Amino acid sequence: MCGIVACIGKRRAAPILLDGLKKLEYRGYDSAGIAVSEGGAVVLARRKGAVSQLEFARAYPGTMGIGHTRWATHGAPCERNAHPQTCGRIFLVHNGILENAAALKKECREQGEVFASDTDTEVAAHLIDRYFREGGDLLHAVWSACRQLVGSYAFAVIAEGREEIVCARRHSPLVVAKGDGEAYAASDLGAVAGAGRTACVMEDGEFARLTQEGIALFDADLASVVRDFFPAGEEAAAPEKGTFRHFMRKEIAQVPLAVENTLSGLQNQDISKLIEVLCQTKYLHVVACGTAYHSGLCFKYAAEKLSRVPTEVFLASEYRYADPVLPDHTLTIAVSQSGETADTLAAGQLAGERGSPVVAVTNVEHCSLNRIADFVVPTCAGQEVAVAATKSFNAQLAALYYLAVALARGRGMRAPSLAGLPVLTHEALLAGEGVAAWTPYFTVARSAFFLGRGADRCAAIEGSLKLKEISYLPSEGYAAGELKHGTLALVDARTPVVAVVCDETLADKTMNAVHEVYARGAPVFLVTPFEELARSEQVTASVLIPRCEPAFSPMLSVIPLQLLAYHVALALGRDPDKPRNLAKSVTVE
Ligand code: F6R
Repeated sequence: MCGIVACIGKRRAAPILLDGLKKLEYRGYDSAGIAVSEGGAVVLARRKGAVSQLEFARAYPGTMGIGHTRWATHGAPCERNAHPQTCGRIFLVHNGILENAAALKKECREQGEVFASDTDTEVAAHLIDRYFREGGDLLHAVWSACRQLVGSYAFAVIAEGREEIVCARRHSPLVVAKGDGEAYAASDLGAVAGAGRTACVMEDGEFARLTQEGIALFDADLASVVRDFFPAGEEAAAPEKGTFRHFMRKEIAQVPLAVENTLSGLQNQDISKLIEVLCQTKYLHVVACGTAYHSGLCFKYAAEKLSRVPTEVFLASEYRYADPVLPDHTLTIAVSQSGETADTLAAGQLAGERGSPVVAVTNVEHCSLNRIADFVVPTCAGQEVAVAATKSFNAQLAALYYLAVALARGRGMRAPSLAGLPVLTHEALLAGEGVAAWTPYFTVARSAFFLGRGADRCAAIEGSLKLKEISYLPSEGYAAGELKHGTLALVDARTPVVAVVCDETLADKTMNAVHEVYARGAPVFLVTPFEELARSEQVTASVLIPRCEPAFSPMLSVIPLQLLAYHVALALGRDPDKPRNLAKSVTVE
């Protein structure tokens, strides 16, 4: 996914780039680099590892530069594959994937050009260098190169001897901002916001030229475009861990606040038009990825139970290529913490093209998904730093349950109140700490299972994703009743099984699965509000969470599972905030 940043102005660029990159590190953190221009000459610094590895470059002189923090797509994470990539007098940073890079490289090699990296990006540097040498105009050179590229990109490009930065955007996010005698570009607003600045989110196909005098924007034919710039406010204070060892643990502690802020935000916002459309809807579709997909599964359960409106949940990466059937009166809800996930964006766009109104449920105000949606439902979780989504999941549930309740009531059906959820999540948080004692069973495990039925299954699947994502322990979230149809073969004494049992009507059924795994020697852990189940002889240990309406129970039952993943990751010596191979915002396919 990668994060890019660029700046030109009166102040030294290196500290601005490094501080900006730190704010973008959630997008990737396997290598980083900056290129700073001083008196027409460009100095390059690149390192494998986190942005902190570049601190030696903070003292570099020069008031113009570009920077990059990488999540490797093409080429291993190492110094020569780090950005900025360069060719001749050209230096560029790139977020995205160039799908025709191999063909273009072949063509360049046939002309005798030599490549220094394994990246797709380097070929763009070669093309820009070629056009720049021919015409001498950087903007035109970038534009000409982009015409040959297939795929996604947000570029920031500088050239030796030039006092300008040229940016281009196609299917990857890019924001430009300006202040007094300075201009910036970055993958997200947080990295360019600052007192007295204004910003503009570039549209797909647009180009920008940044100079000390300001920012000129151009459309896909290089015709000048005039866009409104909005105040980019005070620089958001970088979140801190405070008394917590990790952001993930802090963010789990913030779940009750995230839920409360999301619910009160919706109560205080006029969403009557959306509710009107919602209540005329015959079919609900949800498109999302990862944890957001799981919140969609939880929503399906609640929406169908409370309102009887048929609800389908789609993995956005599948939906976009599945030629989906959208019956008349379908409303599509695209759920995304970042609002930048490429697959979710594309799925939302496709639903819109096929005539469905699109609702974006997002946690970032100025994100791409909000801009393509007909309605925006904000989750108010606050910035989430840890790669594993925790508080944003609960905030998504709060927003989606709010819609489910509004829909049910709009259709004249009774629906329970959500008012108690913030307090209940707080109680679940306190109870959830008990899972720390379960970790020894997981650190020696070969794999783990999370079981549940109905809404409990949705929580189980999310708990399983959390565990594998940050502890690297193979794990599966499974429908309790399905286990015996093959998967039970995997269960033995080194397979801890976590059962989520919050729906009284399904409890006995799920406990059947508990008996089955217990009989195969598996240690069994329970997340449940039912004391008598917790006392079952088959149960090694349990966490008692508060009772709530079963349709909403994943809101509570997931909290001990988030904590379990955190404690197991710690016990195994993993970094829970920055799991290997992952990034917070997935802006590539
Ligand atoms: C898992 C996780 C990911 C994201 C997924 C979608 O903890 O964080 O599975 O949920 O990449 O991201 P968003 O919600 O930003 O679209």
